[in-house]
Amino acid sequence: MGRKRPQPPLHFHHLLLAFLFCCSFSNAKNEEDLVGYGYRVRSVSFDPSGNSLTAHLDLIKPSPVFGPDVRNLILVASLETNDRLRIRITDSEHQRWEIPREILPRYTQLHLRVLPQNHSISPEDDHNSPENNIVCDPKSDLVFTLRRTTPFGFIVSRRSTGDILFDASSDASEAGTFLVFKDQYLQVSSALPILRSSLYGLGEHTKKTFKLAQNQTLTLWNTDIHSSNLDVNLYGSHPFYMDVRLTDNRGKVPMGTTHGVLLLNSNGMDIVYTGDRITYKAIGGVLDFYFFSGPTPEMVVQQYTELIGHPAPMPYWSFGFHQCRYGYTNVSDVEGVVAGYAKAGIPLEVMWTDIDYMDAYKDFTLDPINFPLDKIKKLVDTLHQNGQKYVLILDPGISVNQTYRTYKRGMEADIFIKRDGIPYLGSVWPGPVYFPDFVNPATEIFWGGEIKIFRDSLPIDGLWLDMNEISNFITSPPTPLSTLDDPPYKINNAGVRRPINNRTVPATSLHFGNITEYNAHNLYGILESKATNAALTKLTGKRPFILTRSTFVGSGKYAAHWTGDNAATWDDLAYSIPAVLNFGLFGIPMVGADICGFSGDTNEELCRRWIQLGAFYPFARDHSAKFTIRQELYVWDSVAATAKKVLGLRYRLLPYFYTLMYEAHTKGVPIARPLFFSFPQDPETYGINFQFLIGKGVMVSPVLKPGEVSVKAYFPSGNWFDLFNYSNAVSAGSGKYTTLDAPPDHINVHVREGNILVMQGEAMTTKAARKTPFQLLVVLSSSGISTGEVFLDDGEEVEMGGGGKNWSLVKFYAWVEDKKAIVGSEVINGGFALSQQWIIDRVTLIGFTKAQAKRFKGFEVCTNVGTKTLGDSGNRKFVVMETEK
Ligand code: GLC
Repeated sequence: MGRKRPQPPLHFHHLLLAFLFCCSFSNAKNEEDLVGYGYRVRSVSFDPSGNSLTAHLDLIKPSPVFGPDVRNLILVASLETNDRLRIRITDSEHQRWEIPREILPRYTQLHLRVLPQNHSISPEDDHNSPENNIVCDPKSDLVFTLRRTTPFGFIVSRRSTGDILFDASSDASEAGTFLVFKDQYLQVSSALPILRSSLYGLGEHTKKTFKLAQNQTLTLWNTDIHSSNLDVNLYGSHPFYMDVRLTDNRGKVPMGTTHGVLLLNSNGMDIVYTGDRITYKAIGGVLDFYFFSGPTPEMVVQQYTELIGHPAPMPYWSFGFHQCRYGYTNVSDVEGVVAGYAKAGIPLEVMWTDIDYMDAYKDFTLDPINFPLDKIKKLVDTLHQNGQKYVLILDPGISVNQTYRTYKRGMEADIFIKRDGIPYLGSVWPGPVYFPDFVNPATEIFWGGEIKIFRDSLPIDGLWLDMNEISNFITSPPTPLSTLDDPPYKINNAGVRRPINNRTVPATSLHFGNITEYNAHNLYGILESKATNAALTKLTGKRPFILTRSTFVGSGKYAAHWTGDNAATWDDLAYSIPAVLNFGLFGIPMVGADICGFSGDTNEELCRRWIQLGAFYPFARDHSAKFTIRQELYVWDSVAATAKKVLGLRYRLLPYFYTLMYEAHTKGVPIARPLFFSFPQDPETYGINFQFLIGKGVMVSPVLKPGEVSVKAYFPSGNWFDLFNYSNAVSAGSGKYTTLDAPPDHINVHVREGNILVMQGEAMTTKAARKTPFQLLVVLSSSGISTGEVFLDDGEEVEMGGGGKNWSLVKFYAWVEDKKAIVGSEVINGGFALSQQWIIDRVTLIGFTKAQAKRFKGFEVCTNVGTKTLGDSGNRKFVVMETEK
């Protein structure tokens, strides 16, 4: 004590360190100033129906941090459906930014409707007494409790079990600051039962695990950052999570009981997840929470997509294999690739071309030297003759160029995003660009018009929307002293609290109706997808195929998604699985990662393992960056051989994938699913990151490491069969890990007992595959009836199912009786021409018990059951085989 240590001289790097230290902790220091902050309840009233409650809230004391306070709030808790509770908190006196209704329908308009105040609260009331809880308890499993504590709080609990789902009440929060409501800083925090709760969702980020790890900040602010970067905000924003709960110690909560939570807010935000708490920190908008009661994972996504919109149906052909590359040099290069696939006998459904086709990277133009119209048109015609398709990229930035007609028409229509009264000038591939403002209804007309002019000369089959975060190669200086360009709370943009304007359109830019980029930033991708979807539907009269990089809540209604710029690494191969599964939860089931990896050189082994996995992504596309080595599947013999095998199985499973698309479209359930979707009672499935299900009963267990020739796979309960050879039953009564052989040419794909897979034959295109007879793979159940179904339509009409008559759904069921194996079918809707062409020529039964197998020896595969057409009207039970009499 007392002895002073000699002071080292102060260097520049010390100052720099001190500066960085201050910067990185500036938010944290401010947050301490929020202790004791909060609101108290002034009055409460109920809607006469008993389904909603309105509370008026007053600020207890202002706080100097993160900008001006909103002093008076209104909270409306309303039961919108039996399984959806909405809690909306906003300024009671001023309209604030909210996502326009056209983007996301919101069903109630309760805000600012002041209900009779039958619960006025006097300041003398003992707000902390539990009797002062006000419970909104309509007939649903979701119960809302308003706590009249100081500061006030609220709780959402489950009636049937008493489980607390969301606990935003002051005594649960360490600092008592569970609710902060400022103009540019909104914070809500809920306690979570750390030992019982597993969270999934909150994207878009590349994650090492599917289940969210504790102690992390998840930032949402759409950004063009390579998806090979872990844990940082990427192209899309989905403030939705699913919480799967373990049973409680009273055993009242059934294992795997699941609910979902959406914060419908388009502003930038950080979500801090510590395991025992989740805290939202949004920099604008309102607090609009939706709770979905589940109680199964499947029901949660059904309830979620009912709100945000069911996924768009995808055309049948889009389930074929796609080939793309940034850097195809000219039409003959592309033709060579098409020929390469044909020669190798690998199915190729869709050929893509990246920005290389454009004239100086201008949308809706063709490079006159390398991609001249006559040559590219011939290519497209040939593809179409082959039953193949062609998709091209579009970027939103319109080149600023007086000789460019699209630009001139855009200027005439006055549809570009503006800043300081003139179109905002960004820079992307073509150099200086203006960005169409998709908030403006006139932009949809402009955009649709440009697509039409282009498509009239080149009949492309789908569009790929890239760079729509919006990506900008420059960062424009902020407007001095603007709290939009430089908000008081710095979200953790790019993982380094980088300014929100960095390499995008500045927050002070304006959209139609004076909507700021600050508020609408995260909506650009969904709005562009919506406009493109409308344009293609109108032009073609067919179901459009659109692939978008940037997404938001509800994007699945319009487009498919790929996971952006991954790297050709083993890590990114593995991380593609959590990424694909997440988009299933987000209501965007048509999703995949760039097969073989986008940036950096891939290699034979990685590419081989990647096509083995990628063949089972819902969206299967090989794509690579410019200047990397070529990675078409025929480049290496071993990759070609494995591709034929795995794509062969994928094509045989096309009716299954397509039927899952129908299920996704009508119910919102993902195509690729985490294991806990089918096995929520099995907690071991909650932590499985690198296996997944296609539908309910097909499980993919890939090799994700170099040099490995076996894979340790988890098998939930039941008997599982190798889908390539129907053998190697893994029987795992109550679930166990099994090490499976995975030689270089093989991926493990298993089907569980109880499923009937409706399959067709292998072919080089989906069109050809559709002409082959059906085959039923009946996996008998050890404990009951096996089921399966197939959806049929022409694969491209705008509607999938629905009011029209041109579709059919045929359900199958099967069981073994004493001496007979019975397979039956039931036509749910018979509108689609179920003629003789839809013949089942083979029924394969697997999964006999030992005793049955003995009796049925020789009958496992029934061929030539040609009388069994799908078109038999009415319900039909047919005996597939009988033991010898
Ligand atoms: C972006 C896209 C990538 C594309 C490239 C060139 O990086 O994510 O897929 O190839 O732009 O257009």
